[in-house]
Amino acid sequence: MKKQSINVGIIGFGTVGSGTAKILLRKSRELESRLGFPIVLKNIADLDTKRDRGIKLPAGVLINDALKILNDPDIDIVAELMGGLHPAREFILQAIKNGKHVVTANKALLAVEGRKIFTAACKNRVDIGFEASVAGSIPIIKIVRESLIGNNIQSVYGIINGTSNYILTKMSGEGVDFSTALKAAQALGYAEADPTFDVEGIDSAHKLTILAALSFGIPFSYKKIYTEGITNITPPDIQFASEFGYRIKLLTIAKQDGKDIEVRVHPTMLPKDHLIANVNGVFNAIYIEGDAIGSQLYYGRGAGELPTGSAVVSDIVDIARNIVRTKNTEHGARSTDLRTRNKELKIKKMEDIRTCYYLRFSALDKPGVLSRISGILGSHNISIKSMIQKGRKAEKAVPVVMMTHEAKEKDMAQALKEINRLPVISDKTVYLRVEGGEN
Ligand code: HSE
Repeated sequence: MKKQSINVGIIGFGTVGSGTAKILLRKSRELESRLGFPIVLKNIADLDTKRDRGIKLPAGVLINDALKILNDPDIDIVAELMGGLHPAREFILQAIKNGKHVVTANKALLAVEGRKIFTAACKNRVDIGFEASVAGSIPIIKIVRESLIGNNIQSVYGIINGTSNYILTKMSGEGVDFSTALKAAQALGYAEADPTFDVEGIDSAHKLTILAALSFGIPFSYKKIYTEGITNITPPDIQFASEFGYRIKLLTIAKQDGKDIEVRVHPTMLPKDHLIANVNGVFNAIYIEGDAIGSQLYYGRGAGELPTGSAVVSDIVDIARNIVRTKNTEHGARSTDLRTRNKELKIKKMEDIRTCYYLRFSALDKPGVLSRISGILGSHNISIKSMIQKGRKAEKAVPVVMMTHEAKEKDMAQALKEINRLPVISDKTVYLRVEGGEN
């Protein structure tokens, strides 16, 4: 093996940039002894060069001009860790053009511009590492691309937004309200700069775009992913779900059904004994079913400085090994699987999916109300599995809660439209989809 040093430039000295720098600097000796060559953190660029990030950098490492990194002929690998679409996109494309390998944690950018970026990487024969873009410290990109290559993946279920999982866990465990739980997640550095990305399911949809492209060979389909967040989840629904034996999680789902593929993100009720229902706090988990492996669960920290830094460092080391080992002959090849399109598979329209539902009606407690609700459900082929009615308040609405057998989304939407128009229904009906099998 040729002895050389691999020089790295980091753009963005926020949470992930700091974690990456800490690992690279604190572990530099161990890394060198394991690799046989040093990895040198040459520069970090950030507009804020003053803020204390809890790490002392060697003099001259921190600069405020990203272009210096992009144009430095000594830098082999650029780690784009600033996030956001612009100028991250321009920086990455410039780095690729300048023949630099790129590592990024930028799921939002890859979800919308992935094809362009991977195509540019193939053309310029450079590598793109993006392990940190999905599920933080869990090496799910490597697992799906490499370890499970011998499988036809049938389904991928994930809890891949730490902030929303932290919020739901805190709401159900401590009874705190949504905004208190969100503030705590932000203080811990888990949330995106714009937390609506976390709580509205957008961050999960970005990550699912990448996971689904890798798992099923479909194009990056961010715009086609049905996305619904957790902002409407209330303590009563968490409580009722628990009484029926379920927990509510913000679940990402990608599953193949013949020539159709479902890709969706929404709050989902899962049986309490399902492995993924027991993933709490900021932890992420991905449950994969493949034709050779059966099912597997991957679990770990999905956000935070060092866990995400660990994933970035794994990409840097992977690329560094590739540079030293192949002497620049095979780069770019690893991006080819991200340019291919599985034209066979079509993304199923949300109205065509079939699932079980939880329904919470706010209904006046009068004779005949239940039969009217169940009559409308029945007329749309929706069959009730179980029911709870709480309290008795003459002339006031009470919650009537039902679990249904599997039904079609389109039928459910139509039935709820009719039910919500009934004079005995005082509020819009809450509905949640249920996964984990008909119990
Ligand atoms: N905001 C993200 C999360 C960070 O909460 O999971 C990691 O991508």
